[in-house]
Amino acid sequence: MDKIVLEHITKAYDKNAPVIEDLNLSIRQGSFTVLLGPSGCGKSTILRMIAGLEKETAGEIRIDGVSMKGVDPGDRQIAMVFQNYALYPTMTVRGNIEFGLINMKIDKAERNRRIEEAVQMVGLEDYLDRMPAKLSGGQRQRVALARAIVKKPSVFLMDEPLSNLDSKLRAQIRTDLIELHRKLGATFVYVTHDQVEAMSMGTDIVLLENGQIRQHDTPDALYREPANVFSARFIGTPPMNILPIRALRQAGMNTPLIAMHAGFRPEACRVESRPTAGSGLRLAGQVVTRENLGDQILYKVQTDFGMVQVKDFSGRPEAYGQVTLCVDPDRLHFFDGNECRLTEKGA
Ligand SMILES: Nc1ncnc2c1ncn2[C@@H]1O[C@H](COP(=O)(O)OP(=O)(O)OP(=O)(O)O)[C@@H](O)[C@H]1O
Ligand SMILES: [Mg+2]
Repeated sequence: MDKIVLEHITKAYDKNAPVIEDLNLSIRQGSFTVLLGPSGCGKSTILRMIAGLEKETAGEIRIDGVSMKGVDPGDRQIAMVFQNYALYPTMTVRGNIEFGLINMKIDKAERNRRIEEAVQMVGLEDYLDRMPAKLSGGQRQRVALARAIVKKPSVFLMDEPLSNLDSKLRAQIRTDLIELHRKLGATFVYVTHDQVEAMSMGTDIVLLENGQIRQHDTPDALYREPANVFSARFIGTPPMNILPIRALRQAGMNTPLIAMHAGFRPEACRVESRPTAGSGLRLAGQVVTRENLGDQILYKVQTDFGMVQVKDFSGRPEAYGQVTLCVDPDRLHFFDGNECRLTEKGA
């Protein structure tokens, strides 16, 4: 069932230049939906319209099938967690978490029960009497989460809540959020420009570019079946290599007639120091750089068709100089002149 539906949504801050135009999006009940895309593509704008903090120029937003036209943010059964935790500096952790509940006119006993449950979920039991200034960034972010949890919303909206944290804490809170989502069974809508965050936490990813949805899919489908070149390049580090189709035709390969681009992931490619036989793509190149990361080696290889990045897990001795890049036929992706995925090999 759909929890949140955006229908024909247009948003123009400035009359002549809408940042979002005729957007249609359905967010599944209970999903962990990630709005992903480059800076400025409209992620926060979409989230803020769902929250009711920003008014849509045209179209309709429904939550649980009910139109949100004229419904105040406070009446939408949602809680929002921002990038800067926005805690009240003069209140203790308990005070910060309790504040919203007092506003909701919830009685003391119920408030205490909810606070206890929430701090346990985020591991803050021992910090209830601390002031925010005496907490680490990660702890502050947990207070912000607890403050959202106690309201028992059916929708959690989060706008880059991890971007102020160092990478280790980010990784930790990422797993906390996955666990929290499973425990609460609520619908999460999470904004980020970080594809690793999106892939690791999301059950559904909405990939956006210039206010438009380029692909709405599971993380697995985004990785395995990118709908277009933008999607192919956005997911994965390093991103998918995209070559002109003539690179394959000159190598004597059969390719779909209308294909204009071919793609393969860095991890789908092998580096061989001398040409080997096989049915896939064979491409000559010169190794430019080689980074040993322990469990894998990253290569940049210059070919006649541009630079190719390779992630080699073979553990073979280092290659340098002239090499042959090998890609199995079933690891190749094909795109047409509009950069859209071609599904059938012969299409
Ligand atoms: N209050 C505003 N007034 C005018 N233009 C705005 C306003 N807020 C956002 N915009 C513009 O709308 C577009 C989308 O902005 P938005 O904040 O939604 O992007 P975003 O995807 O969240 O980007 P980021 O990843 O940088 O946070 C941008 O071009 C931005 O400049
Ligand atoms: Mg934003």
